[in-house]
Amino acid sequence: MQKKLNKIAKDTNLFLKRFFNNQRNSELMPAMKYGLFSGGKKIRSKILVDIGLLLSVDYKTLIKIGAAIECIHAYTLIHDDLPCMDDDKTRRGKPSTHIKFGESTAILAGNSLQTIACEILAAPNLKVSEKIKIDLIKKLSECSGHLGVAGGQYLDLKYEKRKISKNKIIEMEIKKTGKLFSFCCAAPAIIKKKAKKEIKFFENIGLNIGLLFQIADDLIDFKGDEKIAGKKTGKDKKKGKATLISLLGYKNSIKYCDKIILDINKSLIKYGSKSKNMRKTLKYILNRKA
Ligand code: IPE
Ligand code: IPE
Ligand code: MG
Ligand code: MG
Ligand code: MG
Repeated sequence: MQKKLNKIAKDTNLFLKRFFNNQRNSELMPAMKYGLFSGGKKIRSKILVDIGLLLSVDYKTLIKIGAAIECIHAYTLIHDDLPCMDDDKTRRGKPSTHIKFGESTAILAGNSLQTIACEILAAPNLKVSEKIKIDLIKKLSECSGHLGVAGGQYLDLKYEKRKISKNKIIEMEIKKTGKLFSFCCAAPAIIKKKAKKEIKFFENIGLNIGLLFQIADDLIDFKGDEKIAGKKTGKDKKKGKATLISLLGYKNSIKYCDKIILDINKSLIKYGSKSKNMRKTLKYILNRKA
């Protein structure tokens, strides 16, 4: 699993480096590159590749789409660390982008990474039809905006230091993290021109993977090691973040994750041994330390 993840990370970074080298330079570029190339597991690209394998999508196409997703992801991390949001000074074992470049530059670098994601999907070297490109850009925009990541981040901040119901916490985690994963799972189905119902099936799997991923991230914050995680831990409790752990406790949250994994694996049974990679990825997501 780790080997495959490393290969995907390497291929994604290679594509992104080339793409950035072909852009005209600007004074925002150093902050953009810092936020994007500072590390990161590239787990979203791995999910995209796992689902792409089920639907026989070409690997190079998946890497390009994964690169666009990683730009959106890097932008959300830069903004998530800002003083007006989680106020975190360390990310991926290094100073957060706003610590290194200042707040306004970090905000603008984040904005620019978001729009670069659309440029990557619109670029001529992504070899899919224009209709598919528009469908991908539309879906990625939906998943990133007020009904997706941005909306979820809004709720995350609004829910601080308040008693929030389980359903509302799940809705918030699905929006802030699940939606981008739902794009990862929907994209291969969009490329293969699947029916709406099948695209929805994959989107739903993505939402659950994202929820699992966020709860596991909350578990790392609760019990993890700062040095291994590459970011400060114990901060959710300090900030009064509404998480499933704060509501159900540590052990019950792990049980909840086990159930999500079981359900996802069940829904992929029809793909037989092709879904082996996904099963391993899900296990990795829950057991990871960073
Ligand atoms: C961290 O995401 C933010 C969450 C959505 C929980 P990742 O854990 O994927 O961050 P990197 O890219 O590997 O640093
Ligand atoms: C971030 O969740 C989710 C995003 C959409 C960026 P967290 O705030 O828990 O992520 P970390 O722990 O700072 O990486
Ligand atoms: Mg946050
Ligand atoms: Mg945060
Ligand atoms: Mg966290």
